[in-house]
Amino acid sequence: MNELTIRQPDDWHLHLRDGAMLDAVAGFSARQCGRAIIMPNLVPPVTTVAEANAYRDRVLAAVGPAHDFQPLMTLYLTDQTTAAEIEQAANDPHIHAVKLYPAGATTNSENGVTDPLAIDSVLGALERTGLPLLVHGEVVDPAVDIFDREAVFIERVLSPMLERYPELKVVMEHITTAQAVAFVRSQGDRLGATITAHHLMFNRNAMLAGGIRPHYYCLPILKREKHREALLEAAVDPSGKFFMGTDSAPHPKGAKESACGCAGAFTAPVAVELYAQVFDQLGALDRLEAFTSLNGPRFYGLPVNERRLKLERRSQTVPAPVSAGDDTVVPFLSGESIDWTATLLDE
Ligand code: NCD
Ligand code: ZN
Repeated sequence: MNELTIRQPDDWHLHLRDGAMLDAVAGFSARQCGRAIIMPNLVPPVTTVAEANAYRDRVLAAVGPAHDFQPLMTLYLTDQTTAAEIEQAANDPHIHAVKLYPAGATTNSENGVTDPLAIDSVLGALERTGLPLLVHGEVVDPAVDIFDREAVFIERVLSPMLERYPELKVVMEHITTAQAVAFVRSQGDRLGATITAHHLMFNRNAMLAGGIRPHYYCLPILKREKHREALLEAAVDPSGKFFMGTDSAPHPKGAKESACGCAGAFTAPVAVELYAQVFDQLGALDRLEAFTSLNGPRFYGLPVNERRLKLERRSQTVPAPVSAGDDTVVPFLSGESIDWTATLLDE
């Protein structure tokens, strides 16, 4: 297959940041995706309905009128979040989920939740209203090896949480392990998961063998090959429980290429092409549209996009670094050749 046309994808996990970075990166996602779940881990974080709507306005301004792109907003849970705020979020047309960062788990998670099993009134409100809980599924216990933090989170936090709240709707974000794939499969339809392109493409050797490559450093961290293989099986799984979430997470070049580099891969410029390359290599291009464009809307209870996106087997070079105010941001795989080129078709 050298060409295929699919419904326009959505990105169910995206970091757009704010200010000059937002202005620099927003167009890349809007060029490919109809909608995106916008992560709230700004500094300070987006914790209220009012802040989420103000951020939405800034995102729309950064995208500009040339693109028909809907930012789907989220709230950042803290130890102080109230059930009343959740009720208000559930009634707001622009808020589609709330995000649970265990405090200290990842970039800008310092204000996250200290004990995810202790926020009972918030979890109860989520269960009642049906607003999805998006989970960064890693424990922060320093005694747990970084490569095991996702699997331990499932045992210690996610599994008991789902048992205690049988109707709670949850997305396990950016899954990276065979244990996560098995756990998501073992639960009913109220549990879904996003998978990034970079976790489908690479194992931890890409980051660590033959030199340390900071642009491959993201959280959850890349795992060993057997886990990547489990993710590949999940991505083509007909269950509909796994969907596209790029976790595109831009950082200034200097913050990545540093003695203590930030976690995050800026994949948005060629996100859909990267997924196409993975599905092509699996001989599963016929499964791509479900993953990029159908499973996510079904989970979130939204209609699928009407526009179409054309993918051609035509190689392109991943874009050069982009300037963002006084900074530069380096796209993941910048300067390398990839096999596919995507074009959004007119309505
Ligand atoms: C994300 C970021 O930079 O905001 N980083 C990352 O490595 N994925 C945060 C996150 O999703 O964990
Ligand atoms: Zn993320």
